[in-house]
Amino acid sequence: MIDLGVNIDHVATLRQARRTYEPDPVWAAAAAHLGGADCITVHLREDRRHIVDRDVELLRQSVQAKLNLEMAATDEMVGIACRLKPEMVTLVPEGRHEVTTEGGLDVAGQRPRMQDVVAQLQAAGIYVSLFIDADQKQVEASAQVGAKACEIHTGPYAHAFYEGGRDIEMPAAQAELRKVGAAGTAIVGLGMRFNAGHALNYFNVQPIAALPGVRELHIGHAIVSRAVFVGLEQAVREMKRLIREIAAG
Ligand code: PXP
Repeated sequence: MIDLGVNIDHVATLRQARRTYEPDPVWAAAAAHLGGADCITVHLREDRRHIVDRDVELLRQSVQAKLNLEMAATDEMVGIACRLKPEMVTLVPEGRHEVTTEGGLDVAGQRPRMQDVVAQLQAAGIYVSLFIDADQKQVEASAQVGAKACEIHTGPYAHAFYEGGRDIEMPAAQAELRKVGAAGTAIVGLGMRFNAGHALNYFNVQPIAALPGVRELHIGHAIVSRAVFVGLEQAVREMKRLIREIAAG
């Protein structure tokens, strides 16, 4: 079974556009849960551009599915996570000027810091996942620093799929899919959990869901975009159905 993590940051983005109180990501979490989300993800950014501290506090109290806090490996964020104890933390790189998370974490280039942060979070009982590119060196470094899971960045695959006319047979999309698959095999081989996400949508999700060993898909923008037209509960249900179709063979 593949779990679906729904990222609700964009609901908060809409709220922050007016600096008001609606739409509330806490409501979004409940709707996503009703639609079948297995996990609710929020990214608390250093600049609080969408999700704010109040959201994470309330979500911690109200989310009945798994709560996954995406965050940078800073002392401030580690302190918040250790206090609120989400079931899972996904460590991501964070650039102030990026529109969304742009690339995977360079775990290999900062092993001592990563090891320290992973250890602090795990000592607080939090399951730690690292968001990395589909790169063997980063997978091996993730295992070395003690991560329990890796989320492979599917952005390059999604980009190649789109640029190739949304045709999964195109060589560039196939090549990127193979990279994600190879990283997944290495992750599973090293005893970690293989997750994937970023830029997945209703058209490109199934080849990723079909990769051997994949356990969780983390999807935000596409689901919230569809929710504008069909409602969040329905948008989550449709994504779950696509993933289930693959799991059922
Ligand atoms: N996974 C990670 C680590 C992310 O940073 C994001 C974006 O916040 C997502 C998944 C979801 O990406 P998207 O919004 O493109 O579905």
